[in-house]
Amino acid sequence: MNPNCKKRMGAIRLETMKVVSQQEIAPAIFELVLQGEMVEAMKAGQFLHLRVPDDAHLLRRPISISSIDKANEQCRLIYRIEGSGTTIFSTLKTGDSLDVMGPQGNGFDLSDLEQHSLVLLVGGGIGVPPLFEVAKQLHERGVDVTTVLGFATKDAVILEDEFAKYSQVFVTTDDGSYGIKGNVSVVIKEFDSEFDAIYSCGAPGMMKYIDKAFHDHPRAYLSLESRMACGMGACYACVLKVPDSETVSQRVCEDGPVFKTGTVVL
Ligand code: FAD
Ligand code: FES
Repeated sequence: MNPNCKKRMGAIRLETMKVVSQQEIAPAIFELVLQGEMVEAMKAGQFLHLRVPDDAHLLRRPISISSIDKANEQCRLIYRIEGSGTTIFSTLKTGDSLDVMGPQGNGFDLSDLEQHSLVLLVGGGIGVPPLFEVAKQLHERGVDVTTVLGFATKDAVILEDEFAKYSQVFVTTDDGSYGIKGNVSVVIKEFDSEFDAIYSCGAPGMMKYIDKAFHDHPRAYLSLESRMACGMGACYACVLKVPDSETVSQRVCEDGPVFKTGTVVL
């Protein structure tokens, strides 16, 4: 057992992971590869709660796992600079250490999808990366994967070629500077296939659209974000309401971040 790897509070795991590499893959969007024992426990759709390596930042920052390489104990995160925490992450160099809590959250349920099942992935902007591991794992099982990726503009397009290795890919941009002009609904409306499962992650507007369009689908999933504090189910900073209930809520960090459509109020 790596001495840096400590289990705390039941399933909560803390580890000092090593930075394998970091590069800017689009303006203000970074790909960070980390190495550590924690990778063994990771599932598609989970996230890591990263300590900002600066004492002025008390709260960790949640970032989704984009791909998992268990053989080399490595995982990839892709994040966009939003504020001071992500700016500090962007200065990390190969060989640096990072204090990581995780893997957190439930992840995507990929069970019971077999060869020739039809699956739709819908990602928007910085919500695209968490779907990559889903595409990879389902493709390995022989699942027929279709991916629709929506971005604001050409400069923001990421991972198109990587998704194309594992799925049929459609790209939209809001301004029409690349791919199909419009948002992901322009493409999704044209499908006449019955998908066995739908997995999505993106901005609130996109999540509302998917929640409505696939409201009664038995296997349509949304990966949601909310502002987080503890990231492990204790503080209730991240709760969402449940339809038709004033008392029941769901914690994005612990009960999510993946929810079935129709199960939380967006
Ligand atoms: P701050 O100074 O804290 O905030 C700067 C701006 O970002 C503010 O406008 C603030 O409202 C907004 N912001 C901060 N946190 C969030 C949040 N949780 N959701 C939405 N807006 C936020 N980002 C990625 O780039 N890649 C990911 O893979 C990714 N995965 C995430 C998974 C989960 C489960 C959650 C909850 C969030 C995820 N995020 C991801 C968002 C990321 O956590 C925030 O962008 C980050 O915490 C901002 O930290 P900061 O210190 O740079 O910015
Ligand atoms: Fe504390 Fe979710 S962030 S309960």
